[in-house]
Amino acid sequence: MQKDRILVVDPCILAIESSCDDTSAAIWRNGKLLCNVVASQLMHDKTGGIVPEVASRAHQQVIIPVVKRALEQAEIRPQELDAVAVTHGPGLMGSLVVGVAFAKTYAAGLDIPVIKVHHMEAHVLAHFATEKKPQFPFLCLTVSGGHTQLLVVRGPFSYEEIGRTIDDAAGEAFDKSGKLLGLPYPAGPHIDQLAKEGSPKFEFSKQNIEGFDFSYSGLKTSILYFLQKEVRKNPDFIQENLADLAASIQHAIVESLLLKVEAALTETGLKQLALAGGVSANSGLRLEADKLAKRLGVELFTTPIKLATDNAGMIAAAASFAYREGRFAQDDLAPAARLTMRV
Ligand code: KG4
Ligand code: ZN
Repeated sequence: MQKDRILVVDPCILAIESSCDDTSAAIWRNGKLLCNVVASQLMHDKTGGIVPEVASRAHQQVIIPVVKRALEQAEIRPQELDAVAVTHGPGLMGSLVVGVAFAKTYAAGLDIPVIKVHHMEAHVLAHFATEKKPQFPFLCLTVSGGHTQLLVVRGPFSYEEIGRTIDDAAGEAFDKSGKLLGLPYPAGPHIDQLAKEGSPKFEFSKQNIEGFDFSYSGLKTSILYFLQKEVRKNPDFIQENLADLAASIQHAIVESLLLKVEAALTETGLKQLALAGGVSANSGLRLEADKLAKRLGVELFTTPIKLATDNAGMIAAAASFAYREGRFAQDDLAPAARLTMRV
């Protein structure tokens, strides 16, 4: 840790996120986000998933323009920055390397510290880049393309993971089911849109797992067998029932998530529930979580959609906590594709 630096009260932080397929830069000052620029890589819909080398090259191409745009939007000169924050993991190595190398070089040129940020911690702390912030401790359902966790969040860097997926993440469940329906990658937002026009009339096998953990591989298999059976009878079954299939898949995933959330709220007695990660953008999840929170007398916290899916604004929010504590990265900071959360 470089603890000999003099900390300013209201740091101006440039934050970078490049862990997967979005290149993003945000500027934070006076305790709030000045801008949050996201460049999404749209070419992956054709390959049905992310090709890591393609993602890495695309980050390399856009990272400088994205940072320039962020500085312009925030009307901040590089010399005004007090730190550069960056996601150092978990994520795709080739994608993380671009952000980390950029952040270290940029910070070295300005002689300011680097703050390393854990991607999943940032999803949780995205709530502190919004107007309505939860107070510690709170329960957080963190649902993304790679993770599904139930966390008791005691402080900015203090978590207890009380539930996790034992196989696929909720985002993967959306994306893999959507692929079976022939939807482009990532299928989550498409299922969300289609579900609005359909009704959840098809039943798939229910998650059957103890405690607060989650499991989605059974659901995927159940959808696959169901579709194979129906398509044998009617080759147009998927097209003719697309909206109802989407609504049924969404219903199954949302129901399984909220079943565990309800159990966790009841057992912990926590009175605040936060939803975080890309899947928390799902309108069905938001609606049902709102109903659950009202029924249990719990306060629900969601972020604007842009702060729910991958973005650098959440990295900036997490970095603002780290800056206060003088938690700066060493010069030899290297990305880590796999990274557990600090507890
Ligand atoms: O947090 P995120 O942007 O990236 C990761 O850290 O993985 O999450 C991406 C995941 C994808 O699986 C995507 O399909 C899902 O979030 N997602 C959604 C919605 N928007 C994004 N899933 C369901 N409904 C949505 N509206
Ligand atoms: Zn994410």
